[in-house]
Amino acid sequence: MRKMLIGLALVTAGLVHRAAAQAPDAKALYDANCKKCHGVLGTPPKAMKEQYSKIATFNAEFIAKHSIDSIVTILRKGKGEDMKSFKTKMTPAEMAAVAGYVHELATKPRP
Ligand code: HEC
Repeated sequence: MRKMLIGLALVTAGLVHRAAAQAPDAKALYDANCKKCHGVLGTPPKAMKEQYSKIATFNAEFIAKHSIDSIVTILRKGKGEDMKSFKTKMTPAEMAAVAGYVHELATKPRP
């Protein structure tokens, strides 16, 4: 009986560990896939604003109009010519994590 409990505890610990390892790292995904155009804090660099007149700034006003779900939809489908779909690059869980991170950015103070 005792052995079985220890075994069970080990299996549970293993599952928890695996879940943690699999949770998408939203910031890393954003930095790798979005930062170039949308900026570290969600304010696109000047050069990007010049290149893409329609590019959004992720601020309070933006997220008031874009739910996390609607951002996931944009990531899945893309928008316009320049905002590409990330469907083949990210899993649905990763897209949801990045969309959440976009919302988080809007609450951060920016220079
Ligand atoms: C090559 C540059 C580029 C990259 C990389 C990029 N975007 Fe965009 N993004 C754009 C442009 C340009 C627009 C404006 C599209 C339009 O409205 O025509 C945009 C628009 C958006 C919008 C707003 C759409 C709307 O309804 O106004 C969201 C949200 C967004 N991007 C999120 C992301 C996220 C999250 C990533 C990373 C996973 C990302 N983008 C990567 C260029 C980029």
